[in-house]
Parts: sequence; C-alpha cells; structure tokens
Amino acid sequence: MIEVTRHDIVIVGGGAAGLRAAIAACEVDPAASIALVSKVYPMRSHTVSAEGGAAAVARDDDNFEMHGYDTVKGSDFLGDQDVIKYFVEQAPRELTLLEHWGCPWSRNEDGTVATRAFGGMSTKRTWYATDKVGFHMLHALFQHSLRFDNIVRYDEHFATKLLVDGGVVRGVAALDVRTGVVRVVLGRAVIMATGGAGKIFPFTTNGNIKTGDGMALAYRAGVALKDMEFVQYHPTGLPGTGILITEATRGEGGYVINSEGERFLATRDYGVGTKAELGPRDMISRAIIQEIEAGRGFSGPYGEYVHLDLRHLGEEKIVARLPMVREISKIYIGVDPVHEPIPIRPVVHYMMGGIDTDITTATSLPGLYAAGEVASASLNGSNRLGSNSLTECLVFGASAGRNAMAFAKGSSEGSEDALRREGEEEAARIVALRGKQKGGEKLSRIRSDLHQTMESGCGVYRMQETMDETARTVAQLRGRYADIALEDSSTVFNTELIAALEMGNMLDVAEAVANSAASRNESRGAHTRRDAPNRDDQNFLYHTLCHFDPAGPRLGKKDVTLGHWEPEERKY
Ligand code: FUM
Repeated sequence: MIEVTRHDIVIVGGGAAGLRAAIAACEVDPAASIALVSKVYPMRSHTVSAEGGAAAVARDDDNFEMHGYDTVKGSDFLGDQDVIKYFVEQAPRELTLLEHWGCPWSRNEDGTVATRAFGGMSTKRTWYATDKVGFHMLHALFQHSLRFDNIVRYDEHFATKLLVDGGVVRGVAALDVRTGVVRVVLGRAVIMATGGAGKIFPFTTNGNIKTGDGMALAYRAGVALKDMEFVQYHPTGLPGTGILITEATRGEGGYVINSEGERFLATRDYGVGTKAELGPRDMISRAIIQEIEAGRGFSGPYGEYVHLDLRHLGEEKIVARLPMVREISKIYIGVDPVHEPIPIRPVVHYMMGGIDTDITTATSLPGLYAAGEVASASLNGSNRLGSNSLTECLVFGASAGRNAMAFAKGSSEGSEDALRREGEEEAARIVALRGKQKGGEKLSRIRSDLHQTMESGCGVYRMQETMDETARTVAQLRGRYADIALEDSSTVFNTELIAALEMGNMLDVAEAVANSAASRNESRGAHTRRDAPNRDDQNFLYHTLCHFDPAGPRLGKKDVTLGHWEPEERKY
C-alpha cells in the first residue's frame, strides 16, 4: 500500500520562494506541520546560481514610486499595478529580514548597505553580496529554516501530480528519487515554488532542473498558465554553455562592443537612450541580435556573439565586485576579463509567465498557491527588470506561506481513500514508465527537436509563420513522447525516468509558450514580432491565459490592473 503522510501545508520547491514560504508559515503557526518537497537538496535549488542582486529601495535618492514606475515601464505596461505597488513596498523589509538571518550584503564605507545599478532601474537599488547573491541568500534562508523543527523536508522527492479531492487541492504524489518509491504527501493547502522552465530552450542560463514542473502540474490540474509568450533573453550569456555573466558587470560599468570595437548601445539608436548598457534586457538582447545580423558580430564554434568588455574597470574592482565573473570566464571560456573581453550572446534566462495567481498568490484552484518564477502574479508583465526576481521570491514566497496557512486553517482534509487511490494511480503510471522498453522514440531526439523548434519559433525575434510552425511541432512532439522507449528499469536514482517525467512537463509548458505567442499579434516587451513591430494597447493590453485541454490548449484573456501609471510609449 502506498505510504501517506499528513501535514498542514505542502510546499513544492526548496529554493528562495519555497523556503521563504515555509518560514512564513512557521511564523503564522509555530505548531503547524510544513512539508517541504524538493526535487533536489534545497541548497542545490536554482536560486543558488543567481549572481547580480536583489532590488529594493534603500537610498535617500530613491522611493517606492520610482521603483514602481521603473517596474511597470520595464513590463511594457503589462504588469498589474496593484501587484507592483505591493511588491515595492514589501521589498526593503524582506531584504532587511534576510540580513538578520545572515545574508552578508556588501556595505558602503559608512556601513550602509551597498547598492549597484541594474538595467532599467533609475537609481542604484540592487542590493548585492559581491556577485554571489543567490548563494548567500539561499544559505541564509536554508540555515534559518533549520531553526524550525516543524518543517519536514522531503529532499530529492520529485512531485509529479497534484492531488485534488472535492475541487480542492489536498497534496501531491512525489517520487522519492533515492529509492524509486512514490509517496502521497497530504496537506490542506499546497504552494508551488518550483521555478521556471528555461530548459525548453537550447541556450539558457538555467540549470538542468528548471523543466517547468510546477507549471505543468498546475496546468494539468486545470489552472491557467498566464503570459507564457513572454520569455526573457538575458543579453550576456556565454556562447555554448549559456552560463550567466551577470548584469552586474554592466552595473559596475562594463561595455558591450561589436567587432568594430564600437559601444553600439551608446552610439546607435536601440531605444535605450543614455542608459546604454543599462537599458532593459529585452532591448539590449534585440540590439545584440541586430548587430550580429548586420555583420558586426564575431563567429565562433557556438555561433555568433559580441563582446563584454570589463578591462577598463581594472583588476581591483573586478576582484572586489565581480569575483565569480572572473572565475567563470577563466574556467568555462579561458578568458580573464581583467585582460580580455568576454564573448557573450543573448540566452534564455527567465519566464515572465507562469501559474496564474492573484495578488495574494492564490490560484483559481482552491488550496493551490504559487510564488516565485513558477508563478505569474503579474509583477513582471512582458519584461522583468534584472534583480526584481530574487526579491519577488521573498515577497510573494512570504505571502504564499501566510495565505496558504490561513486557507489550511479553514479547510478540511478531504477523503484519504480517494487521495490514496489517486496516488496509487500515479505510482502505477510511474512504474509503467520506468524502463518502458516498447516504443520507437528516444528522449534525446525529442529534446533536441524541442530545443530547435523553440529557438526558431519563440526566440528573440518572432513571426506568425514560425510561431505557428513551433506550435504544430510541439503538438507532434507530444504524440512522439507517448511512444518513448526507456532502458533503465532500476529504482535507485533512475535519472532516465526523471528525464522522461521532466520531458512530459517541458512539452506541456512549451505548448503553452508557443500557442500563447502565436496569439499575440503585437510587439510588447520580450515578445517581439518582425511582422507586427508595434505595441497595440487598443487590442492587446491584456494577459493571455492558456488552459490545458487534451485536444490542444484553449486560450483566454484576463484584464491588466491599471490605475496608477498611465500606459505610455516606452522610451529610455
Ligand atoms: O544578471 C543577473 O545577475 C541576473 C539577475 C536577475 O535575473 O535578476
């Protein structure tokens, strides 16, 4: 019989949003039992790889109005304005709390918290701990979480299904990666905090674990994915690996230059005005692609690229502020940025879209909450500003923890028999998939075809024809996926099985991205169409909703919350 455990709430994901949610839930009720289910050991969550910083008002020359305006303008006016206002007001408290829990923010000479410039921000408001911000933040959160005995961790447990009874979410089925056993983990509310889905693309800063798992689970359970067409390309990834070279390099004064040695963001009209290298990511990524297309890029074994030049910053500053950039550049590309420019190209970094939530992190499915990159509370609209996302994980993680606890207090446990049966069905599906030998398809072929079609149809620049083609190809890939053959039938750390389950999730998320993109006949933020180059507020100032349907996705719309900042042409 399948093992069933009971808690007050279940959190899926052990990164910044999940840990912050767990801590907030403990603060609400120190006696509550909180399950923290994570595909990897929490310190291996993708938060650990964040580099440049977290945004919050800290200086005398800054205020909430400015942070809010920068964010809504960065979003190309698709961000919900009530959500943005809530976010900027909560942000300083969250970053200060993190310091109290041990996060070593870098300091100014006078002892105040140091802040650096980031793209699209009108003043220095990005808090940092050199360029290892994710590592320090995650460490502080994880260590603080260890104070609470009532957080019960399910490390290396891959949640594969939301369990729903009577129209309310009551828990998850999760595969214990170490043993191959499937467990039912029940709670009276569930929080999704599993991060994004960059691995549906070939070149990404995202780690291999970011396969859209939470998005897919919610989608299949009937919750819409919102604004999935908006995929952020970070302008400065390493060619080949896609490893992130943080925007802090430009915040500290780095230049982006073409093969003619020209600082084209400063000399040519790419819409970034005097911000130059500190323009928003969508605009800088487009500028780099245009420079390459104009023949002013460099060619290498992994395609074309331009240069990020830090040499003028000098060794002392690079060592003090950007030590990891130097380390990464030396190790992965054999370049010491003190002496040579770093080859860079735009790479997929972040999904603006995600599980549709309201401002309280609640979804349309009672009992289900979501926070962090997996969610779309509509903070980021069509383009996120760098350094807003780590803060987003804290602000909305905390909110999810508190609100899920409040829901759980008023909710019943559901029928254990029905939930157990659901869990057993899921366990049977996983056992059948493990080592499934009959089938004509290989996972690796599906993955490379998925990557190829996502890059060609849903990349930095898009066209109706190619987006439609990608949507059709993803639908075919789903058919081919049903026919995969696997070789490994072992139970302990069966990575082939994990990859197969992840592929099912990636295909669902890719379907939502491609179909949402094909439906938006305008250019806004990161969704840039060559065949519809202008923003069209008259017809497209709405959020796209994508609903799961076995016959193919159904699209809908949701209003954008306006009222404080009037949409205007986005110029820097
Ligand atoms: O470039 C960076 O350090 C990334 C920051 C972010 O995505 O917020």
